[in-house]
Amino acid sequence: MAEFALPKNSKIQKGKDFDATTAETKRKKTFKVYRYDPDSGENPRMDSYTIDLDKCGPMVLDAIIHIKNDIDTGLTFRRSCREGICGSCAMNIDGRNTLACTKAIDEVNGEVKITPLPHMPVVKDLVPDQKHAIAQYNSIEPWLKTKSPAPNRERLQSPEDADALNGHDGHGPAACILCFCCSTSCPSYWWNADRFMGPATLMQAHRWIMDTRDEATGERLDQLEDPFRLYRCHTIMNCTNTCPKGLNPAKSIAEIKKLMVARK
Ligand code: SF4
Ligand code: SF4
Ligand code: FES
Repeated sequence: MAEFALPKNSKIQKGKDFDATTAETKRKKTFKVYRYDPDSGENPRMDSYTIDLDKCGPMVLDAIIHIKNDIDTGLTFRRSCREGICGSCAMNIDGRNTLACTKAIDEVNGEVKITPLPHMPVVKDLVPDQKHAIAQYNSIEPWLKTKSPAPNRERLQSPEDADALNGHDGHGPAACILCFCCSTSCPSYWWNADRFMGPATLMQAHRWIMDTRDEATGERLDQLEDPFRLYRCHTIMNCTNTCPKGLNPAKSIAEIKKLMVARK
């Protein structure tokens, strides 16, 4: 039976308040950040950090790096490129899944609320456990599969075929950075992540299906021909609305569904 109340140990408590500003601080901002340490046995809590914006860069990632370096070293989050390329810093900021490194602090009015990507187990603080999502991604065999003999040089593609992957504007399926902002904003994925592949993985499946060098299209479609893996998408569009790279996973899913119909 569905349970609608959170278990007692999941309820978020009020956390600690840190104020790193002084009477001279001109630009103050408060960040409310989700904290959870499974080893402590304590419930998650929201800590509050009021900082001087003149002591950090303009992005939310700059602010949480400043908090970690100068205020509370225990704060845990992932980041790497700080260029919107690696997907590591995906989190929920101001109610929306996005990348902390490309989200400007001044886009948020008032306090900045930061929680981990929703509907994934939390390893610690803002770090979600992505093992399941990565296993689903691996299950589509995201590499070039060929049966024909290898040529003496690279397998070539026409510029038009490459454009189909990359998009004329750079927003094609190959531009996905696998941040999983889309999958974790999809209600179908929240309730059926055990069997529905979710928009990030389906977009990557589409990327390989439409790659003119790949020779496993039928096999790839067979793998997705399932009431849950593909068809649990109900075109709610949260995925496309939230993608911080401006990509369109819902369109990729619709294209796979069209290919399924066309081959019948
Ligand atoms: S489609 Fe967008 S939101 Fe989804 S994983 Fe790729 S880059 Fe992230
Ligand atoms: S369009 Fe499909 S994959 Fe995207 S949010 Fe909606 S149900 Fe999920
Ligand atoms: S740190 Fe790489 S995408 Fe944000």
